[in-house]
Amino acid sequence: MEILIFPDAQSLARKSADLLESQIKTYPDSVIGLATGSSPLGLYEELIRRHNEYDLSFAGVKTFNLDEYVGIPAKHPQSYRTFMDENLFNKIDIDASNTHVPDGMAENPLKVGPAYEKMIEEAGGIDLQVLGIGTDGHIGFNEPTSSLGSITRVKTLTRQTIVDNSRFFKSDEFQPKLAITMGIKTILDARRILLLACGENKAEAIRDMVEGPLSAFCPASALQFHQRTTVFIDESAASKLSLKGYYKFVDEMQVDLLRQHRPSDWISR
Ligand code: F6R
Repeated sequence: MEILIFPDAQSLARKSADLLESQIKTYPDSVIGLATGSSPLGLYEELIRRHNEYDLSFAGVKTFNLDEYVGIPAKHPQSYRTFMDENLFNKIDIDASNTHVPDGMAENPLKVGPAYEKMIEEAGGIDLQVLGIGTDGHIGFNEPTSSLGSITRVKTLTRQTIVDNSRFFKSDEFQPKLAITMGIKTILDARRILLLACGENKAEAIRDMVEGPLSAFCPASALQFHQRTTVFIDESAASKLSLKGYYKFVDEMQVDLLRQHRPSDWISR
């Protein structure tokens, strides 16, 4: 895992947009895995700004979102489809038919997962997967004790995730307790992974993911198995890492080496 620690959320967002931009410019037909939530918002704002400013184009890009709630329609203000439409898709030149979010209103939610896996496979697999991380170490909605070999399926949310996400629902409103999520294997199959996290409330999960034992108790720790995972965090999210100084040293040593010898290393495929 490559750990990069940024002074603030803005520089983190800019750098993650740089990564997406080089991916898309090098491979205009890239397949990108996307996340919802607060973590990628700065990245999405930066991509929209670049699209408006110098026509960064998403016309050939395909996207697959990690997850969707079960039981609320796509048009619901809290659906992940609405989140993506409002915070990214409607503001760039992506073809709506190339954007995929699991169908949380499918008549049989149990059938959504295998079909979603097939669509990802038919698209050629995910080139670059963007992730956030839950305070309990979840990625997608793979809650603690999720199988590390799981594929897209229905998951029951933990009490902690339900509480974390309750801020988005009115007190008298139905809040889903189930979601359809890419599995951990689905995520690990992506050629490149970029995980974003800011804030002190993520510090423990980041520590467990990077330095903890590989454990289904911290699903994100499965990323220790992935060959090209980059973790962009701010100082607060990095605050509980015991080898923080080492990660900064590694970064300094790597930057020049990569710039000189493998400038295209950021790009997957
Ligand atoms: C969202 C997702 C979740 C979030 C995680 C962090 O599509 O898959 O795993 O990335 O819950 O959420 P935020 O970024 O809101 O802290």
